[in-house]
Amino acid sequence: MSKNSDLEIRRLAGALGAEILGADLSQDIDDDTFEQIFEALMDYGVVVIRDQDLTPGQHKAFCQRIGDPLPVPFVKTLDDHPEIIAVIKEADERTEMVFGGTWHTDFSFLAAPPLASCLYARELPSFGGDTLFASMTKAYATLSSGMQDMLRDMKVVHSGWRSYGPVGTFAKTQLTSIGVTASDEGDAEVLHPVVAVIPENGKRTLFINDIYAIRFDGMTEAESAPLLNFLCEQARRPENLCRLDWRPGSLALWDNRTTMHYAIDDYDGQRREMHRVTIASVPLQGITQGHYVGAFSRGR
Ligand code: SIN
Repeated sequence: MSKNSDLEIRRLAGALGAEILGADLSQDIDDDTFEQIFEALMDYGVVVIRDQDLTPGQHKAFCQRIGDPLPVPFVKTLDDHPEIIAVIKEADERTEMVFGGTWHTDFSFLAAPPLASCLYARELPSFGGDTLFASMTKAYATLSSGMQDMLRDMKVVHSGWRSYGPVGTFAKTQLTSIGVTASDEGDAEVLHPVVAVIPENGKRTLFINDIYAIRFDGMTEAESAPLLNFLCEQARRPENLCRLDWRPGSLALWDNRTTMHYAIDDYDGQRREMHRVTIASVPLQGITQGHYVGAFSRGR
């Protein structure tokens, strides 16, 4: 099989997820190969491209085919590569949680949340350290029509306060191997549609997650919690998940608008190091505004 001409795409689970074999992202891939990967990302929400051997520069160059890397808030980046964060847990590290160890959608508290994230395995434990993904399009599609109708015009406040604010997790617990700076800016709030429309394919997605979606517009956190919890539980039903088993050379790319994810912390005593590039987006559009069809930078 010649690399980049015969991609093989295998689904991982019913709701979302696929693995891609036969790609070599260390090369400058042609438009046709890129289209196949991007379409698989849109179709399956998360794709894992196996057997890569990438420098940080090559990792970044692939991500730039999709869009501009997002300036990363709160989290320290690599000295030579300000677009990359190193998600590390050391072998001797014991913390209450690992980075990414709650169900979340990357930086959903930004006015224009990332379109995608791209995580590359640099060092893996001999077992464990998988990442779970939930399909937020499936979560929406499997709600009753009554619930869908109720949600379609609602808006939800997202904030990073529980993680990055002055009283958030990272203000109290420092992850020694990942520099995170909690600050007042972590308390900022933005409003997103609860049901967003994906401009590339018109899919509807539930844009909430356990940690950053804090209340519905016009309601208190206490009033919002029962419905937010119900919707997150709906998303986390086993039928709506896939489990990504990392292997040496695996690079995962997920649509940050249609998924949430969870890093499993089950490998104490072993080191895990991943490099993440987060890819910039445009503000989300809800159903009431109609399908967004405006300019969309994907660097092609
Ligand atoms: C993340 O949330 O980006 C990290 C996921 C992981 O380490 O598996």
